[in-house]
Amino acid sequence: MRITEAKFAGSSVRAASKPSRKLPEFAFIGRSNVGKSSLINMLCGNSRLAKTSSTPGKTKLINHFIINDRWYLVDLPGYGFAKISKKEREELRMMINDYIQNSDEMVLLFVLVDSRHDIQKIDLEFITGLGENGIPFAIIFTKGDKLGPNALKAQIERDKAILSEQWEELPPMFASSAETGAGKEEILDFIGQYI
Ligand code: GTP
Ligand code: MG
Repeated sequence: MRITEAKFAGSSVRAASKPSRKLPEFAFIGRSNVGKSSLINMLCGNSRLAKTSSTPGKTKLINHFIINDRWYLVDLPGYGFAKISKKEREELRMMINDYIQNSDEMVLLFVLVDSRHDIQKIDLEFITGLGENGIPFAIIFTKGDKLGPNALKAQIERDKAILSEQWEELPPMFASSAETGAGKEEILDFIGQYI
């Protein structure tokens, strides 16, 4: 699958107010600062499409990008960002849950995990919630350029072992780097199977 056109299609705070044109959606979620917006830009070959920041908590809305006029990539706010008020955190949590549970067009959710550390408790809790709600998902290990190839492989194996304690069958998994473009073809080909 090749992306020939990627355009911003709108921001929303609830699934009910997302762009009215219904098309298949592939959404990106994960801890704040894990690299969701950067990965979307890398996949689209446009570093200015989704706003990124070295400070966590950059994406605060549900952002739809229309791809090849046929499907959407959806950039979601991150979870687990500590430095905001309790009220704001609860608001973001509700926004994320509402989108995930009420978006009939969402085909698949990519859960991004930082490849530099063991998968964290908050990620495991989030993934458990997906299982309970029957939400199809895949995992992408981000920032792969920050580790050597062997260290990256070892980390993914470690995370697989952690996930296997809870899951009989593991989800599809990818490693990516917004810096080098690693993972681009695999992720886009995977999406291509659905549309
Ligand atoms: P929020 O919107 O705040 O939840 O963050 P996000 O998950 O969208 O992360 P974002 O894409 O804004 O990236 C966060 C920081 O990580 C930025 O400084 C990026 O440049 C950096 N970053 C993201 N992906 C990569 C990557 O693959 N490699 C490296 N080296 N840095 C990355
Ligand atoms: Mg973001």
